[in-house]
Amino acid sequence: MIREVLRMGDPRLLRVAQPVTTFGTSQLAALLQDMRDTMAQLDGAGLAAPQIGIDLRVVIFGGALNPRYPDAPAVPDTVLINPQLVPLSEEETSGWEGCLSVPGLRGWVPRWEHLRYGGMDESGRHFERTVDGFHARVVQHECDHLDGVLYPMRVRDFRRFGFVEELTDDQTP
Ligand code: NI
Repeated sequence: MIREVLRMGDPRLLRVAQPVTTFGTSQLAALLQDMRDTMAQLDGAGLAAPQIGIDLRVVIFGGALNPRYPDAPAVPDTVLINPQLVPLSEEETSGWEGCLSVPGLRGWVPRWEHLRYGGMDESGRHFERTVDGFHARVVQHECDHLDGVLYPMRVRDFRRFGFVEELTDDQTP
């Protein structure tokens, strides 16, 4: 079922979400299906449960070819629950981000370039990945939602924050 995505300003987006404690339940399966349906409908690269008003540490992301990020490399379709993120170096890379909770806008956001992340899949099995670049960016963006952080809070240069239709190529270094 396609769910309404909360927009920035809704206080539910600012909560620190609760860990999932029970796996393999019909409630969790239904939540993930709603998240997939909603993300697909809106062509998102990822979605966090708090964005549909669910106070749990659940994110999904992925998509081989995303029309909203046409130049981005493929990221495997992933369910990540109770995630833990560890940067593997001090190196940061900046890139454009958008968010389904901040429609119509883009911002230039620094993220860790090299990242290890782990967590549970929907059946409660632990997994870990070492990633970089766009994959690392997507994970950091989605997991930020679980701590009540939206990407505009990460923007350092507000000359590079604005409406998609107004931002020009020469603002991209
Ligand atoms: Ni987002």
